[in-house]
Amino acid sequence: METVNLTIDGLPVQAYKGASVLAAASNAGIKIPTLCHLADLTPEGSCRICLVEVEGARGLVTACTYPVSEGMVVRTSSIAIFEARKSVVELILANHPQDCLFCKRNLDCELQSLAAQLGVKEIRFQGEIRQSAIDDSNPFIIRDNNKCILCGRCVRVCQEIQCCNVLDWTDRGFTSKIAPAFDDPMVKTDCFFCGTCVSACPVGALLEKPMFNEGVPDKKVKTTCPFCGVGCNYDLN
Ligand code: FES
Repeated sequence: METVNLTIDGLPVQAYKGASVLAAASNAGIKIPTLCHLADLTPEGSCRICLVEVEGARGLVTACTYPVSEGMVVRTSSIAIFEARKSVVELILANHPQDCLFCKRNLDCELQSLAAQLGVKEIRFQGEIRQSAIDDSNPFIIRDNNKCILCGRCVRVCQEIQCCNVLDWTDRGFTSKIAPAFDDPMVKTDCFFCGTCVSACPVGALLEKPMFNEGVPDKKVKTTCPFCGVGCNYDLN
């Protein structure tokens, strides 16, 4: 496969032609923060967290979607990049419930972690807050679009990995959201509740029900599968 030579943060790097700057940096051990990116899925370039500088390019570019080329010179950190990434997080937070302390993903949230890394201490922008009904229609998954940051990771795992096509984009502009067709509750769809979308969600927009209903202990039952490795913690005695 054809390769190209480029420079990332002063380091000479070789990457496959057509690879993204993010992949080239990652293979060279250079970490670029991401939010909408998930390995092996189609890059979407929607969150703008992975902004980097490429010499000759107009403005900052998204590393996850920008292809490498011969002789390219990339910088992944500078004051301008830091400020741009920080503004992106602040803009996402402007339309996000400010209830982290009560969120089930508190301390396990990629948005919260990025905000901490970028030193976001206050919400500079006061945006309109989305008011969506919570989809609690099934026994397994809670879908809270008020916390959705529209990264599209759940859509891509649903469509590209599980091939279920239950979740998709709908509406435009501020009312854009991710939902099943016709905004149906998940219980009315073909979803078989595999949970892949929950695992892909970087925030608290998709939660497993046992986690959401914290405080209700798992019921212990006898089981005949002691070595299945699923880790359900059911009592074997
Ligand atoms: Fe590149 Fe979201 S990770 S735009």
